[in-house]
Amino acid sequence: MSIIFSGIQPSGELTLGNYLGALRNFSKMQDGNECYYCVVNQHAITVPQEPAMLHERTRQLAAIYLAAGLDPQKATLFVQSEVPEHVQLGWIMTTLSYVGELERMTQYKDKAAKRGDSIPAGLLAYPPLMAADILLYQTNLVPVGDDQKQHMEITRDLAQRFNRLYGEVFTIPDILLGQDGTRVMSLQEPTKKMSKSDENRTATVYLLDAPKDIEKKIKRAQTDSDNAVRYDVQAKPGISNLMDIFAAVTDKSHETIEREYADKGYGTFKKDVADAVVSVLEPIQQRYEEMIGAPELDEILTQGAEKARAKAAVTYEKVLHAIGLYR
Ligand code: TYM
Repeated sequence: MSIIFSGIQPSGELTLGNYLGALRNFSKMQDGNECYYCVVNQHAITVPQEPAMLHERTRQLAAIYLAAGLDPQKATLFVQSEVPEHVQLGWIMTTLSYVGELERMTQYKDKAAKRGDSIPAGLLAYPPLMAADILLYQTNLVPVGDDQKQHMEITRDLAQRFNRLYGEVFTIPDILLGQDGTRVMSLQEPTKKMSKSDENRTATVYLLDAPKDIEKKIKRAQTDSDNAVRYDVQAKPGISNLMDIFAAVTDKSHETIEREYADKGYGTFKKDVADAVVSVLEPIQQRYEEMIGAPELDEILTQGAEKARAKAAVTYEKVLHAIGLYR
């Protein structure tokens, strides 16, 4: 049995990338493992958020976790700000981090570049808070998309640094990447990752998009002009991205897809990709509609926070003793 932890920020509408890269792997782990899944709302405020919207999206994200198959009897689902040990250990991890290593993070560089001269310090301190999320639970495995590799590396570094300085307190976690769909790219600029914060809504399939919009977006996805369904990320990033998506939702290999579409053009292929994506997302959307208004959702989050807190407090107590922060 392994301890699993992962989190998603309620910073925008969830995308097909979030689903294929992370979310769909969460429920696969819940049998036979001890799982903690978190709505990381304190990470979301590292860039400005509108309060009412943040509040609403936090609840929506919790409903999406459940709609995507999380069973609160098996996995612990909770909101980060309801377990204060996250920011408490986050501060300690910040004190162990070097400005240089934090400045090298790609996600920091990308987000900081959009903020001109007013870069929030929280953007820089984002990885130590993420490390705290993970380390509090003595996590073995972290299911995330490929873009979180760097953050996982620094989490491991910080855990090792702490253990070296203060004694063995933390388990060193490993990243768990899915098979396909670990890096879903933008439909309009297929060399860039699909992102919640992309201003161009046609570049992104959102989890709650209406089926007709999903179809429209996939049909209009950028491809090339040679009309051959062939996997080649360098020369054919658009088609390769659609092949990755198709492989992820149908479990077909790239070779099978190439064979099946050898004498068919992009039109047929795109239609089939859209149908396959819709058939995966539609049931999630239906369950989401049932969950979002349900009073049980609050109960699940309250109980989840209690369970998470009980576990987190044990590690945090050890940390306080290890570093002398006790009376
Ligand atoms: P966030 O909210 O940006 O994304 C949530 C998850 O979705 C994955 N993901 C993708 N996977 C494939 N293709 C894409 N285009 C794509 N876009 C996003 C991300 O890899 C992630 O797994 N730092 C994290 C949140 C976090 C966290 C944690 C994760 C905070 N604390 C502790 C794990 C453990 C983030 O920005 O996720």
